[in-house]
Amino acid sequence: MKLNKNFKNLKENYLFAEVSRRVEAYSSAFPNSDIISLGIGDVTIPLSLKAVDACKDAAIGLSTKSGFRGYGPYDGYAFLKNAVVDYYKMRGVEIHADEVFVTDGAKNGIGNFLDLFDSDNTVMIPDPVYPAYVDANILAGNKIVYVNATEENEFLAMPPKKGKADIIYLCSPNNPTGAAYNKEQLKQWVDFALENDAVILYDAAYEAYIDDKSAVRSIFEITGARDCAVEFCSFSKMAGFTGVRCGWTVIPMASPLNRMWLHRQAIKFNGTSYVVQKMAESMLRGGYEDSKKMVAAYKKNAKIITDKFDALGIKYTGGIHAPYIWFNCGVDSWEFFDYLLKKARIVCTPGSGFGKNGNGWVRLTSFNSQERTEEAIKRFEPFWKEFIDVRDKLFTAVR
Ligand code: MLT
Repeated sequence: MKLNKNFKNLKENYLFAEVSRRVEAYSSAFPNSDIISLGIGDVTIPLSLKAVDACKDAAIGLSTKSGFRGYGPYDGYAFLKNAVVDYYKMRGVEIHADEVFVTDGAKNGIGNFLDLFDSDNTVMIPDPVYPAYVDANILAGNKIVYVNATEENEFLAMPPKKGKADIIYLCSPNNPTGAAYNKEQLKQWVDFALENDAVILYDAAYEAYIDDKSAVRSIFEITGARDCAVEFCSFSKMAGFTGVRCGWTVIPMASPLNRMWLHRQAIKFNGTSYVVQKMAESMLRGGYEDSKKMVAAYKKNAKIITDKFDALGIKYTGGIHAPYIWFNCGVDSWEFFDYLLKKARIVCTPGSGFGKNGNGWVRLTSFNSQERTEEAIKRFEPFWKEFIDVRDKLFTAVR
């Protein structure tokens, strides 16, 4: 038996597994410490009762002759696909139900999509970025080229003047930086993809957090995107489904990827459960107002964090179109992580875990409760003042 040799090219742990490992080590050493997680982007607001009612109704239905369901369609039930079509229509974007594929979340959708490509492709990925893209491509043995997202371009990587790509990953609003593309910026990526005969794999998992019309919610708002893009979306952050698991992928019908993905799903996936799809449908129909309230509550937490950062003069991005605040600590990100945990018992995510340009930066999420976010920020203020005093003496500077 020969193991996948690409495994050895991965870091020892996936980013969030490493964060958990360090937090667990700290908790076992100090079992009574009250740790607040502003680390992994996991939601805390309980599910909408609309979703719970849909779940109950579907489950009861399954116990009846007429409501029983066995295997579902590989691409998802029509009731959910149509709800997704209407969700796009509400924002002026026309897609067809045959272009919608229900998944068990955007992460799986994006990772599994690599099954459709040859390993002889050049994959372009912004740095910093959600680490699952990079790690999935390392596992597949693909050639990766990075495009820089830095303070200079407000953490929005733009197409390089020179250079070629076959597959391009974009995430907007961005995880981890919270930055979001506007129409002109995204049009440059679409033009670049069309010139290169490339596909854009567009992660729109945080689109519900977009505040105004200047930022783009779907790449299909951009002329030309139907000829080069695939969009991944999720109920996780808009409806609290991180544990429930449901998402969707939009693949234009004219693309060969549409039929290939259906074929791939038929081989490897028997669909998201009927009950979960009913819950998801409820959140795009009668439960949509509840979803908007959840998003608004997380954005309120983001504002609690950014107000304090403004007062402390901390440099940051995000928090407006996204549940992430990305701030500059100016020192090695893992050293900062350990210090913040030790001194304030707050968990963050070190920026270097998202790529080399992330070193010196830190990500906080607004997904904890308002009470815990307020408590974290109360602890953060004295912590930060003390940190500034010792920063030059104790830490590895990153400028
Ligand atoms: C994150 O913290 O980056 C996300 O929650 C991870 C994910 O969505 O898989």
